[in-house]
Amino acid sequence: MLFKTHPEKFWNLIASKYAASPIADRSAYETKIQKIKSYLNKENNVLDIGCATGTQCGDIADEINQITGIDISSKLLAIAKQRMAERKLNNVEFIQATVFDERFQPGSFDVVMAFYVLHFFEDIDAVFKRIHQLLKPGGVFISETACLGENNIVMKKVLRFAGQLGFLPLINLLTTEQLEQALDKAGFTLLDKTRFSHQPDTGYTLIVRKSK
Ligand SMILES: C[S@@+](CC[C@H](N)C(=O)[O-])C[C@H]1O[C@@H](n2cnc3c(N)ncnc32)[C@H](O)[C@@H]1O
Repeated sequence: MLFKTHPEKFWNLIASKYAASPIADRSAYETKIQKIKSYLNKENNVLDIGCATGTQCGDIADEINQITGIDISSKLLAIAKQRMAERKLNNVEFIQATVFDERFQPGSFDVVMAFYVLHFFEDIDAVFKRIHQLLKPGGVFISETACLGENNIVMKKVLRFAGQLGFLPLINLLTTEQLEQALDKAGFTLLDKTRFSHQPDTGYTLIVRKSK
């Protein structure tokens, strides 16, 4: 099984285990959600890329008009739908899709979020260009990414090797600097850069505005 070519199979395989694992640093998570909420209002339509079980979607749903969670894993989305039904949230929808799906119209979102998913894209410039296109003028993009390009050299080699063999989905060994440069190039202006948790592999939360 080559997860590199079929990443959705990897996520479906680990979906139950992933869904059962608790948030690593609950206090940092809650502080981050409060920060995110400070950029939201009741008129907002939001897109969450790589929403998995929909945790973030559910946690901001009361502050916005509508949120669309997208993911490639049908199993994670099934869990997300069940959890939203349990929470009785009716302004959250889940779609099996990638950000490039043509069902999403340019200029249709006020806010786009991407937590721990950007490193699964090979061409980060293309992803930022697409997010920029999907946002309304002045729209906000909020992301947090595992910047594995900043890891030690042995870990980088292991990840690269496992990736080349196809045992893992494609992993782009990004750095925070690379992300910031790519965001700038795509026409975003940095509003906030905070590292909410100091647990290993926690990335900076980058909040940017579509400025050009
Ligand atoms: C590490 S999980 C992060 C989940 C969630 N955003 C969070 O922070 O808890 C990565 C998620 O991205 C999804 N994913 C991977 N590649 C994707 C892609 N190309 N488009 C959409 N979702 C993707 C996976 O199925 C998985 O649910």
